[in-house]
Amino acid sequence: MTTTRRKLFGTWKNQVGHQRSLELAAAAVEFAPQCQGLFELAICPSMTALASVADVTAGRVAVTAQNLVWDATNSFTGETSAPTLSDIGCKYVILGHSERRLYLGETDEMIGRKIRTAFAHRLIPVLCVGETFDEHGDGQFEQVVLRQLTALFAAVADSTSPFVVAYEPAWAISTSTEALECKPLEAGDRHRFIRSALGQEMGCDVAAETTILYAGSVTGDNVASYLAESDIDGGLVGKASQDLSSFRGLVDATIAVYRSQPGPR
Ligand code: PGA
Repeated sequence: MTTTRRKLFGTWKNQVGHQRSLELAAAAVEFAPQCQGLFELAICPSMTALASVADVTAGRVAVTAQNLVWDATNSFTGETSAPTLSDIGCKYVILGHSERRLYLGETDEMIGRKIRTAFAHRLIPVLCVGETFDEHGDGQFEQVVLRQLTALFAAVADSTSPFVVAYEPAWAISTSTEALECKPLEAGDRHRFIRSALGQEMGCDVAAETTILYAGSVTGDNVASYLAESDIDGGLVGKASQDLSSFRGLVDATIAVYRSQPGPR
C-alpha cells in the first residue's frame, strides 16, 4: 500500500458561517504539518465558504465538498457541478450523507450517478452508508449497507478511481433527535463487515487499501477508542469539528493515537 488509509474529515455541514469557516481553515493549515506522515486532514465547508477556504488552504489541507449534482453539462439552477468543484481545487466530495438520504430524498440511484460524475471529474467520493434509527431497531444493518454499497460497486466497475467509504449510522450522529451511542466495538464489527463486502465484490487488494471512516458523534474525548479498532481508519466528524477548541482537541487526540501506533495501515 503506497498511501495511508488514515484520514480525519471535519465536516461543517450548513452550521458554520463564512468568517468562522476561514478561521477553522486557518487552524487546519496550522495543524497540517503535525498530521503529516500520520494521517490526512480534510475539511468540508459549506458551499458558500468552499472557494474561500480553498484559497486559504492552498493545497495544504484537503478541501471537500458536501454534495454535487450528477449532471456535469446541463443547467441545474442552485446546484453545484463537479467541474466547478474541481476548478477550485476540491479533492473529495461527500455523497449519500444520511441527512440527504433522509430529508432530501436522495436515492441509491441518484447517489450512484453522483459517484460516476465525481470519478469523471477527478473528485474522490466519500460514500456514506448506514442505517436509520428504525432500520437499526429492526436489525437491518447488513441488508441496508449492502444495498447502499451497490451504487458504489456499479460505478467502480467502469473506473479505477479511488474512493472512501464512511460508515455513518444515522441513529448515532449528533444531530439525530434520538441519538444512541454506537460503541467502538460495535462500530469496529460493522467496519469489518463493510471491508469484507468490498473484498467480495472488488477483491482483497482494493478492500485492504480502502479507507473506511467512522461517523457518529466522534469527539476528541472518544476518538482514540474508535481508532483502536483495526478496521476504523479515521473519522468523519461533524459537531466536534465546528468550533476551534473542539476541533483542536479532535486533531490533537488523533495525532496522539497515530503517533503511538506503528506504521500506516
Ligand atoms: P457528528 O456528525 O459528528 O456531529 O455526529 C457526523 C455525521 O454527520 O456524519
